[in-house]
Amino acid sequence: MDKKVAKLINEQINKELYSAYLYLDFSIYYEQQGLDGFANWYMVQAQEERDHAMLFLKYLQLNGEKATLEAVGKPDKEMKSLMDPLKAGLEHEQYVTGLINDIYAAAYDVKDFRAMQFLDWFVKEQLEEEKNADDMIKKMELFGNDSKGLYSLDAEYAARIYTAPSLVL
Ligand code: FEO
Repeated sequence: MDKKVAKLINEQINKELYSAYLYLDFSIYYEQQGLDGFANWYMVQAQEERDHAMLFLKYLQLNGEKATLEAVGKPDKEMKSLMDPLKAGLEHEQYVTGLINDIYAAAYDVKDFRAMQFLDWFVKEQLEEEKNADDMIKKMELFGNDSKGLYSLDAEYAARIYTAPSLVL
């Protein structure tokens, strides 16, 4: 593999694990607030992020590259209101979209069509990730200030269940 593409994919393993850690932190915050549904939503999200990390790892391995794991950063988003994690979540997903685009651009530069095809799944996934994060903010703005509205939202998020990623390598 091209060294730059392999390096960026290796770094993405760490970024995805950080995402899992960040959402686990959000889950812990909401559990403390008594919002078990929100806590569940982010717990499932953390599992998805771990899956993303595993997909990047597996891709490197399939291509005969050795992965190197680095320390995962401490989640440090400030959570002073129920809205804070939601806004931090959207910001984070926009950042991750930028990272995926950077890897894609590096693969494009060296005509690594295999990596581009692999990354296509993540390009699409990021659209969903940003849309979900944005929807959660909008719903919180609309319903979050009313206790019945918040209760309903929490019930909605309690229903989220984990499913394995549709991408299989
Ligand atoms: Fe791994 Fe939330 O994207």
